[in-house]
Amino acid sequence: MVSKIYELIFVMALAFATIEMGRASDPDILTDFIVPEGSPPVDGNFFTFTGMRQLVGAPPPEKFKVLKATLAEFPALNGQSVSMAVLEFPGGSVNPPHTHPRASELLFLLDGGLQVGIVDTTNKLYTQTLQEGDMFIFPKGLVHFQFNIDASKPAMAVSAFGSASAGTVSIPNTVFNTSISDGILAKSFKTDISTIQKLKAGLAH
Ligand code: GLV
Ligand code: MN
Repeated sequence: MVSKIYELIFVMALAFATIEMGRASDPDILTDFIVPEGSPPVDGNFFTFTGMRQLVGAPPPEKFKVLKATLAEFPALNGQSVSMAVLEFPGGSVNPPHTHPRASELLFLLDGGLQVGIVDTTNKLYTQTLQEGDMFIFPKGLVHFQFNIDASKPAMAVSAFGSASAGTVSIPNTVFNTSISDGILAKSFKTDISTIQKLKAGLAH
């Protein structure tokens, strides 16, 4: 299972890197790669990310979990216009609506089933039910979500992003977990302050 994941991660990374060579969204760099100041002499380790090893033999998580390999975790991605994440969905769990301001996302479903959706800039919703082996593209900047409909079976997917630092803007967190005032939110959602406070309290745990 794990070697299958590694193989698929490799194929997806290659495919995405090829696309991005023609249409990089991160700034082009003038060197082959960028080494952070103060790094030890570059060898194969610099180009290697071992952070996904923790998935090997690990029990499935209890809540939806994302394990990322982006610029923050893997400095060699700087300037390479690519990053990845492994998404683990316990039965019935959801990855709430969010956007990636700097990249599109190509999701490859390895295990289980997922309902996915995107909302375009005309507010039109597109949904799909994915089966194991399917891919789905989430265009750059659009709100999207994934939901494991099957309460009894986990799902696992790998996502590739066309930026080393795609960024994630969670809609529930951005709206209800910052210091935008209850009054502004109540007016914006045409509701009362206690409803807003209930939503905020729900997100707090
Ligand atoms: C999934 O959509 C993710 O961005 O992690
Ligand atoms: Mn996403």
